[in-house]
Amino acid sequence: MKRGGLIGIRLKELGQYNTKRSIIQFILKQDFMPKDKTISILEPSSGEGNFIVELKNNGYRNLTSYEVDKRYSYTGSIIGDFLKADVDRKFDLIIGNPPFTSVKLSKSYYGNSETEFRTRFIEMLFLEKSLKLMGENGLIIFIFPNRLFLDKKFNNILRLIYQKEFYINRIVDLPLNIFTNTDSTSSVLIVISRKKSGVFVNGHSVPIKEFLEDSNYYLYKDKSKFIDKHGISLGDLIEKISPPCGKIMITAGRLEDIKKKDPGFLAIVRNGNSSVGRFSLYDPSEYKFNECFYFYKIKNGYTGKVISLLGSKLYKDYIQLISKRTGSKSIRSVDLLKLSVK
Ligand SMILES: C[S@@+](CC[C@H](N)C(=O)[O-])C[C@H]1O[C@@H](n2cnc3c(N)ncnc32)[C@H](O)[C@@H]1O
Repeated sequence: MKRGGLIGIRLKELGQYNTKRSIIQFILKQDFMPKDKTISILEPSSGEGNFIVELKNNGYRNLTSYEVDKRYSYTGSIIGDFLKADVDRKFDLIIGNPPFTSVKLSKSYYGNSETEFRTRFIEMLFLEKSLKLMGENGLIIFIFPNRLFLDKKFNNILRLIYQKEFYINRIVDLPLNIFTNTDSTSSVLIVISRKKSGVFVNGHSVPIKEFLEDSNYYLYKDKSKFIDKHGISLGDLIEKISPPCGKIMITAGRLEDIKKKDPGFLAIVRNGNSSVGRFSLYDPSEYKFNECFYFYKIKNGYTGKVISLLGSKLYKDYIQLISKRTGSKSIRSVDLLKLSVK
């Protein structure tokens, strides 16, 4: 195999996307960064060493770092697999950009062994191990793929994190161009500690319960932008409710089957592709929806005001935004909500 080919494989399999220095400088300036320069710090996947250099530039000296690729031995990192390394101490701060990749780990360099998070996604394994290495008053600051919050299959990991009494204190959207050698990955910055708090998603506070029910952070993004000229936000008119219970959710909601449309309830399709943002009123006693939908109750009934707001471009955009999600089940076009609000 040609050298370029090998490097290409490494790049994908090892998630070798190094972080731009400017982004690291931005992270180190944030108020959650510990001010004490003597704290012990772990960088578990240091790559070309950008975090290490910037941490040192900021006066932090007590650094330990790992990197699996020996091409990066010049950084002074311990060359080895962090996931397999026997690390017998805890750290005040664990910071970095763990590898993330679409390559399946089981087919990759990192075997098949069972994990507590029950996942083969490498960044989740980095998080699992890092939680164990975090000191009692410690902090984890990671650049992380946003799929942890968008793809329902990771909800069990979020619940486990909270069960273990770790708290995700912040989730901050990062721009697309934060890596030196790829520009398309959607990432967030996460801050985790044992300090109990609500979750701050892009500056908005979200109660933990609500967050664990539905971690889709797009729900909270840019919320304030969606207020119409009369100062009424969609949130003033509708409130999110849990899916009505007591009925079996079928795997695809056949819209033709929704006979009666109750004016007080709104369902929004939330899964990928063209169905994102479609919505309908529904009858809670006869609904046939699956987990591809969000459910809302119209607070003060279905009035003309609500109708015109729901139909407006502003709220259509908002509905599209809150229903954005990746990785959930697809729904056939025949099952899409055809009803428009008249
Ligand atoms: C996304 S890059 C981040 C590099 C660096 N932290 C930065 O932000 O610039 C991930 C790095 O993790 C390394 N890596 C992948 N698997 C690893 C493992 N099991 N143990 C240690 N490092 C690993 C890759 O070689 C790659 O350099």
